[in-house]
Amino acid sequence: MTDPHRPLYHFTPAKNWMNDPIPFFWDGVHHIFFQHNPEAPGWGNMHWGHAVSRDLVHWEELPIALVPTPGGPDREGVWTGSVVEHDKTFYAFYTGQPGQVQCLATSRDLIHWEKHPGNPIIARRPDGYGDCFRDPQVWREQDAWFMVIGSEQPDHKGGAALLYRSENLNEWQYQHPLLLGDVRQTDFEFECPDFFPLGGKSVFLSSQNNTWWQTGTYDSGRFTPEHIAPADGDKFYAAKTLHDRRGRRLLFGWLREGRSDDEMRTAGWAGVLSLPRQLTLQRDGTLGFAPPSELNALRGRHQHFEALTVADGLHVLDGVQGDVLEVLVQFEPTDTAGIGLSVRCAPDGADGVELLYDPRTQRFGNVPLALDRRDGLALHVYIDRSVIESFANGRACQARRTYPTRPDCLHIALCARGGTVRVKSVDVWEMKPLCPA
Ligand code: FRU
Repeated sequence: MTDPHRPLYHFTPAKNWMNDPIPFFWDGVHHIFFQHNPEAPGWGNMHWGHAVSRDLVHWEELPIALVPTPGGPDREGVWTGSVVEHDKTFYAFYTGQPGQVQCLATSRDLIHWEKHPGNPIIARRPDGYGDCFRDPQVWREQDAWFMVIGSEQPDHKGGAALLYRSENLNEWQYQHPLLLGDVRQTDFEFECPDFFPLGGKSVFLSSQNNTWWQTGTYDSGRFTPEHIAPADGDKFYAAKTLHDRRGRRLLFGWLREGRSDDEMRTAGWAGVLSLPRQLTLQRDGTLGFAPPSELNALRGRHQHFEALTVADGLHVLDGVQGDVLEVLVQFEPTDTAGIGLSVRCAPDGADGVELLYDPRTQRFGNVPLALDRRDGLALHVYIDRSVIESFANGRACQARRTYPTRPDCLHIALCARGGTVRVKSVDVWEMKPLCPA
């Protein structure tokens, strides 16, 4: 039976569970390793699955890359990490379970991997940090390799990003924290850290409840944040980046399900890879997010509307229907209480997923978005059955999941709250499915 909630142009493994993506770009190919339970559509028994794409649109699932070794330091799970290349060898760093120890595997082709005989390469956490000690992220600087491991300060004070250094990728020396977080800003631990330069500044990503970004300055192994915000709501998690041939920094997250364990078991799959989000450093030092242009290759039939007026309430778009769509809406500037879209709604506008910007609180969903009075909201939404991903003015994102029980939740409504709103234009494209339904 076909599953009406399974996305058609987002990647999800053929069956069973996925969580965190581990992106890596090499020789024209985008690789996504990902946390995968190959035996059940629920979390546990973690392996590294593997998918590749040459165009950021079509993804091919390859054989599983990393499997727990019976009796080994990763016998209970191969958790999240990162991949680097050095002298024609690929190095995959990951957290082995039990005990959250750091391990290494190497490969010549990114397909066949060999575990390092000296695993675990980091067996103990430095004193003074809590249980979380995982998800190693590695990068090269002029004179050495560096690794950051996600951890936590005691008593839920905040996350800790622990910095290690190596000359040879095998032996690692603990240095000091790259960054200590504040629980009031970025929650209590730093899962899935990612650290990279962008536009003359540095960016640090971490996850707990949400994925958080921080932009700031990096000097002598220490990062000083200047701007901090959540990257999205709680459906977009464990997001990490790759740096591709065109010099783009692309962010991929795990789109969590909103279904019960029983529903996931019945469906036989769980977890979706987000669309790539191209990161930029904005003039004000905050992070910008945009869908890469490759996604336009998915566009099919197009509909265009202009100069619409939305009186307080919902205005269902005439003649627009579908659950595999891209929608671009340009609103005129306004200071009413809320503007946006209701997507996957019924013909009368009921039961949809509302993607609203509130000009008074300057929030788009969970995320701050301070629009200038002269700037109207530009809302860009990708609808792929149960997956909704949206971008507001290239600066704030909101991913949602929806599992409508009514088969007629295929409509789109413009929303205005507490006033009349004018809409410059609406563009809707049917998207071409990549996967069999
Ligand atoms: C984040 C996370 C990581 C961990 C992995 C295990 O979702 O908890 O910190 O390595 O999932 O699957």
